[in-house]
This record gives sequence, C-alpha cells and structure tokens, in this order.
Amino acid sequence: MKKLVIASVITLIFLSILHKTFDSDSLLFGSKIGNMTEYVPLLGYPLENHYVETEDGYILNLHRIPYGINTSDSSRPPVLLMHGLLSSSMDWIMPGPNKSLGLILADAGYDVWLGNNRGNTYSRNHTAWDADRDKERFFNYSYHEIGVYDLPAMIDEVLSVTGHSKLTYIGFSEGFTSFLVMGSIKPRYNNKILLMNALAPVTNMFDVTSIPINLTARYSLVLQIAKKLKWFEMFTPRGFGNFFRFICRNQVFCDYFFKMLGSSNQILGDKDYQLSILSNFPAGMSLKQIIHYIQGSLQGTFAAFDYGPNGNLAQYGQITPPSYNLSEVSSPMAIYYSESDNLVNSRTLLETVVPQLPNMLEIFHVPYPNFNHLDYLWARNMTILLQKVIKNVNKANKRFPKTTSSLKK
Ligand SMILES: *[C@@H]1O[C@H](CO)[C@@H](O)[C@H](O)[C@H]1NC(C)=O
Ligand SMILES: *[C@@H]1O[C@H](CO)[C@@H](O)[C@H](O)[C@H]1NC(C)=O
Ligand SMILES: *[C@@H]1O[C@H](CO)[C@@H](O)[C@H](O)[C@H]1NC(C)=O
Ligand SMILES: *[C@@H]1O[C@H](CO)[C@@H](O)[C@H](O)[C@H]1NC(C)=O
Ligand SMILES: *[C@@H]1O[C@H](CO)[C@@H](O)[C@H](O)[C@H]1NC(C)=O
Ligand SMILES: *[C@@H]1O[C@H](CO)[C@@H](O)[C@H](O)[C@H]1NC(C)=O
Ligand SMILES: *[C@@H]1O[C@H](CO)[C@@H](O)[C@H](O)[C@H]1NC(C)=O
Ligand SMILES: *[C@@H]1O[C@H](CO)[C@@H](O)[C@H](O)[C@H]1NC(C)=O
Repeated sequence: MKKLVIASVITLIFLSILHKTFDSDSLLFGSKIGNMTEYVPLLGYPLENHYVETEDGYILNLHRIPYGINTSDSSRPPVLLMHGLLSSSMDWIMPGPNKSLGLILADAGYDVWLGNNRGNTYSRNHTAWDADRDKERFFNYSYHEIGVYDLPAMIDEVLSVTGHSKLTYIGFSEGFTSFLVMGSIKPRYNNKILLMNALAPVTNMFDVTSIPINLTARYSLVLQIAKKLKWFEMFTPRGFGNFFRFICRNQVFCDYFFKMLGSSNQILGDKDYQLSILSNFPAGMSLKQIIHYIQGSLQGTFAAFDYGPNGNLAQYGQITPPSYNLSEVSSPMAIYYSESDNLVNSRTLLETVVPQLPNMLEIFHVPYPNFNHLDYLWARNMTILLQKVIKNVNKANKRFPKTTSSLKK
C-alpha cells in the first residue's frame, strides 16, 4: 500500500511537470493537415458547423459533410458517427479519402454528421459555465451524461435538420458505451435508429489485456489524488498533445509510443502521419470518464457512476449504483470486433454483453491479424472492415449501389 502511494505521488508529480512544461496556446511540432475546419476543405469536401445545446446546457459542435465529391445532387440519408474516449470528429476522416469512413460515406451518397461530445476540443462551451474557469462543474461528466444528454441532442438535431425520422449510427469504442447508456435510460431513442454499428465496442474495460490500462486500473489512487488536486480535465491537446508530438520527433520513441497506445504496425515509421494524428489526438476528456471505466473494470459491472454508499443513496435512492438494462437497447445493431483489440475482451463481449442485446443483426470479426483498438481509426489498410460497414449501412438504408467505387483497389 505504501509503495502504491509513493508510486502514485511520483507519477502524478511527473505528469504535472510534463503538463506544465508543454502547456502552450500554440501546437508545438505541429502537423501538415491541421484540425477539422482546415483539413476537410483542404480535401475538397464541404463542411458545415452545427451547434447543439443539450438539456443540461452544454453546447456541442457537430460537424457535417453534407455530400461527397460526386454526390451533391442525390438524396442523402443521414449517418451520425460518434468518436471514442479522448477523441473527436477527426477520428472519422484522419486517413483521408477512400480510406476513412466519414469521407467514404459522403462519397457513397450519405449526409455525414460527425459528433463531438462535451469537453473535447470542439465542444468546450456551455450556456452558464466557462470550461476553463468552472472546470470542476464543467468536467463533471462521464459516458453516462454523454449517453443521456449529448447523443439525444445530436440525434434530434440531425433528424430535425434533415427531415428524416431515423438515422444510421456508427460508434467507435466509447461511442458504443454511451449509446448503450442512451438506449437503456432513454429507450424511445432506439426508435430513431435505423442501424447502430459498433466498431471496437467497449462496454467496460474489465478483463482488459492491455498492461498500461491494467496498471492504471490498479492506480485508482492516482486518480483520487488527481481529484484532490482539482485536475478535472485530462489529456488536453495543449499540454499532452505537445508532449506526445515532442516524443514523436524521435522515430523510435514515436513508434514505441504508438504501439503502447494500441495500434498495429501499419502506421509505424510514418512520422508525418503520426504527427498529424497527434495534433488531433488526444482531444481532452474528463477525469470522471476514466474513473467510471475503472469502476466497471474493478467491479465487473456495467452500471451508473459509483459515488460511494452515501452518495449513491442521494443520487439513486439505493446503496449500489443501478446497472444499465441492456435489454432495453432495442436498436438494430451490428458489431465489429477483433481478437487483438487491447481494450475489448472479445469473450466478455460475446458471452456477456451481446446476449443481452435484443436486436443484434450481425457480429463481424475483423479478419486482420494484430488489428488493435486504434487501427479502427488510423490503419492504412482496413478495406475489409470498411466494405462490411458500408454494405450494412446500405442495406439498412435500402440503397444498393452497383459498386462502392471508391473502395475498389
Ligand atoms: C467522381 O466522378 C469522376 C468523373 O465521373 C470520377 O472519375 C471519379 O472517380 C469520381 N470520384 C469519386 C470519389 O467517386
Ligand atoms: C482549428 O483551426 C482554426 C485555424 O487555425 C482555428 O481558428 C480554430 O480555433 C481551430 N479549432 C479548434 C477547435 O482548435
Ligand atoms: C459559446 O456559446 C455561446 C452561446 O451560448 C456563444 O455566444 C459563444 O460565442 C460560444 N463561445 C465559443 C467560444 O464558441
Ligand atoms: C457532479 O454531478 C453530480 C451528479 O449529477 C452532482 O451530484 C454533483 O453535485 C456534481 N458536482 C459538481 C461539483 O458540480
Ligand atoms: C491484469 O490484472 C489482473 C488482476 O490482477 C491479472 O490477473 C492479469 O494477469 C493482468 N493482466 C495483464 C496483461 O497484466
Ligand atoms: C430490463 O428491461 C426489460 C425489457 O424492458 C424488462 O423486461 C426487465 O424487467 C428489465 N430488467 C430490470 C432488472 O429492470
Ligand atoms: C490490404 O489488406 C488486404 C487484405 O488483407 C490485402 O490483400 C492487401 O494486400 C492489403 N493492401 C495493402 C496495400 O497493404
Ligand atoms: C478515391 O477513389 C476514386 C475512385 O476510385 C478516385 O477517383 C480518387 O482519385 C481517389 N481519391 C484519392 C485521394 O485517392
């Protein structure tokens, strides 16, 4: 116990020093592609910004690519893509045209909406609170609030702007977790979903096989202390982004770092691409998000945030936090998983989570060897996965194009 405390304090001091050293308003060691508002027009695609207010006052920036290179005149069904922990809408366009889902869908005739949950680079605004001055209140959320408030607000915006009654949803990692929260707490939203596609579906990080995460889980004390130090917002692009890009000035360290993060060999050795990724990732998150995941890992549950017995009594009227009822999540669903994903334990997924979901249409095993969590976003070659997703989206939308031309080799 004593060792753990000492290790925690040292880790924390180390992280604080790093954060202070690299905290800067400008992106150091920057990339060539810039952020969403720079990159999408650079690629020749149209981009719209939409701002949505949630029931609890957060103002979220939804990005929209209303049509693709040749598809401005077709009728375009809406697709909402939701990023994972630490990330942003950039997830869906990073590898560029013909290689990333956001752009391929636009080229295939869809109206593409890219969500940004509260607290990330694009969604740091609130009707009453300032994200910098009111950090304790502003960053007081986990995937629970994202599922209960952010997803419904974004879904309603997409449907009201497009005039459609349903949309196709694609969620990566936490984009699945928060979807399950929404589907179980606000089940009427299941009726607004034509098909939910879950890539690398994380419900909890329990049984994780990744060593860093395993260690973090045991270092819950680290996080407790961070809370005492009022460190509510974590892994911002300014502090940590700059530090990560600093590491990447050295190719060997950079490749090692990407391996640790959870990506296969595909993007190793490509410094420009790595720097571009790291100028958009991490995009910030709340400490509470990671604590919520760690609680689930340690307790083996998929339940609301654990505030301790007294806090739970006040919040929920019971001593333990209520579990999310997955039988309520009635949206038609397809999941895409891989064996070597360091954050998704496929046995837990297939044996515990999937059997509780009432409307599972497809369980797709990504056949690439060593396909890891972040490969779903950044891999240079994931044609088989992309083709499968597009096929399912087309089927759900009753669109049967002769070819998905852009995916041909
Ligand atoms: C757009 O149309 C042109 C001309 O028909 C074609 O050559 C090109 O491959 C199309 N691009 C995409 C992304 O479909
Ligand atoms: C994206 O880049 C533009 C141009 O540099 C900048 O004005 C904008 O603030 C950036 N957006 C975010 C969220 O960082
Ligand atoms: C935050 O939202 C308010 C509207 O409530 C808007 O007036 C303001 O410009 C936004 N701030 C930023 C930084 O986007
Ligand atoms: C954080 O949220 C919880 C649950 O909604 C609430 O009970 C608590 O008062 C909030 N804390 C702060 C500092 O706003
Ligand atoms: C993760 O922690 C658990 C519990 O202590 C342990 O059984 C397991 O072997 C660890 N896995 C790895 C990959 O470190
Ligand atoms: C979960 O939801 C299902 C379907 O609505 C319901 O039949 C079941 O009783 C619920 N279970 C719990 C524990 O509330
Ligand atoms: C991409 O993956 C497919 C299927 O594994 C393989 O046949 C193809 O050679 C790969 N292409 C590249 C450029 O690596
Ligand atoms: C994407 O694919 C289309 C059709 O094959 C091709 O015309 C276009 O040049 C490709 N775009 C890029 C950036 O490779």
